[in-house]
Amino acid sequence: MNLDFNPEQLRQALYRTADLVVDLYRDLDERPVFAGHTPAEVSALFDEPVPEAGLDFAELLDTVARDVVGNATLHISPRFLAYVSSTGTHAGIAAEMLVAALNQNCSKWHAAPSAIEMELRVIRWLAEFIGYPEDTGGVLVSGGSMANLTCLAVARKARAPFDIANAGAGGGPRLTVYASTETHAFLEKSMDLMGLGKDQARKIRVGDDFRVDVEAMREQIAADRSAGYFPICIVGNGGTVNTGAVDPLDALADLAAEQDLWFHVDAAYGGPAAGTELAGHLFKGLERADSVALDPHKWLFAPFEVGCALVRDRNLLRDTYSLLPAYLRTDVDKTERTNMIEYNWQLTRAFNALKVWMNFKLYGADMLRAAIEDNIRLMRRLGELIEAADDFELLAPIPLSAVCFRYLGTQPERRTDERYLAALNERLLEASEADGRYFITATHLGDRTVMRACCVNHRTDVKDIEGLLPVLRELGGVVK
Ligand SMILES: Cc1ncc(COP(=O)(O)O)c(C=O)c1O
Repeated sequence: MNLDFNPEQLRQALYRTADLVVDLYRDLDERPVFAGHTPAEVSALFDEPVPEAGLDFAELLDTVARDVVGNATLHISPRFLAYVSSTGTHAGIAAEMLVAALNQNCSKWHAAPSAIEMELRVIRWLAEFIGYPEDTGGVLVSGGSMANLTCLAVARKARAPFDIANAGAGGGPRLTVYASTETHAFLEKSMDLMGLGKDQARKIRVGDDFRVDVEAMREQIAADRSAGYFPICIVGNGGTVNTGAVDPLDALADLAAEQDLWFHVDAAYGGPAAGTELAGHLFKGLERADSVALDPHKWLFAPFEVGCALVRDRNLLRDTYSLLPAYLRTDVDKTERTNMIEYNWQLTRAFNALKVWMNFKLYGADMLRAAIEDNIRLMRRLGELIEAADDFELLAPIPLSAVCFRYLGTQPERRTDERYLAALNERLLEASEADGRYFITATHLGDRTVMRACCVNHRTDVKDIEGLLPVLRELGGVVK
């Protein structure tokens, strides 16, 4: 039973879909970033049994436009400044359509020759873009969390003093990993999944600039060795999720070398800034890492999902993931063919390289760097506006494009009341989400609840940034 359209029907279906996309982008600026409906309201739109009979395509697309597009949070909006969430590009839209049309399975080389050779080239380009050795091993994965886990599993296998792949984590001493308190939650989740245990993730204090205290890390490593633990890895941050702090990577690389530990850098957010003039100097030492997690679906503007794990020694990446059962050993003797299944955990894999490759080819590395630098400048401008305002307070330096701040309210006598300020800022964020003109989120710095705006968005311009505080002030006057 062939489910296909005929060629003319296919053309019509794609044109209609293209029209929907063009309409969406044409008036992006006027659309609310968040639709503001409740879970019950959105769930009701999809509340039906499995449809036994199909719909006409035009009718189906109208339903998608109304229910899906109408309730989508517009990460693509110039005023989306939350999390570390990219906008995607128009090249990415075209790429995703082609990916589905070609339906390549990037598992073994003969299942996707052009896609896999492109992926290998994209990995080299990503390395080159951030100043990492180009002859690195690597693999594209679903995102930053998976890129970090992919690298940490290599570190675990390479540095455990026993055969951990076969014996499991109980086959030797307890293995410990070191990172700052500002490190993303992928670390605890990975430690848990790898069987090493969240408690063995040693969180080291940071200074006022939110960068890790390297001496404190050295002391913790020594204390752990004396207590019978076996340290295996240091994780440095190439842009923390909260404030964009870049750890002193060179000093961490020295410490890793001195202590004979694996050095991993989580550059999921900040990595692409390493290639810019404006922020590149912060990343000195990145090139010495044994592995790096990068995320093209953040600051390289690729649509979700695509992350990248770089592992300097490709043989170690392969040692960790290569396991070829008989049904997959059909062309193993052709050594010039790279079978991606040997370099990562997945078997079937989407053709994620195309959207990254098309971004590089269409815009060029220069333009991508310029867009990143633009984001940094815009957010430093926001920092200046906050510092100049007497009803907002800037709470962290802005090395990259994340700004942590808070609203101080209209009652000067309450500006030292931390509990009042935390509640006020939480209410203001709720009001701002419902308002829909901007989308920003909260985080915690120490025990302070703060607002956080982060720009990895090539559509944001200066008017969007200059409009943020007036909108928050207007809403803040109402929530009090
Ligand atoms: C520094 C950092 N590391 C890791 C991640 C996880 O990446 P992903 O959301 O792609 O899994 C994030 C996400 O924001 C991040 O900012």
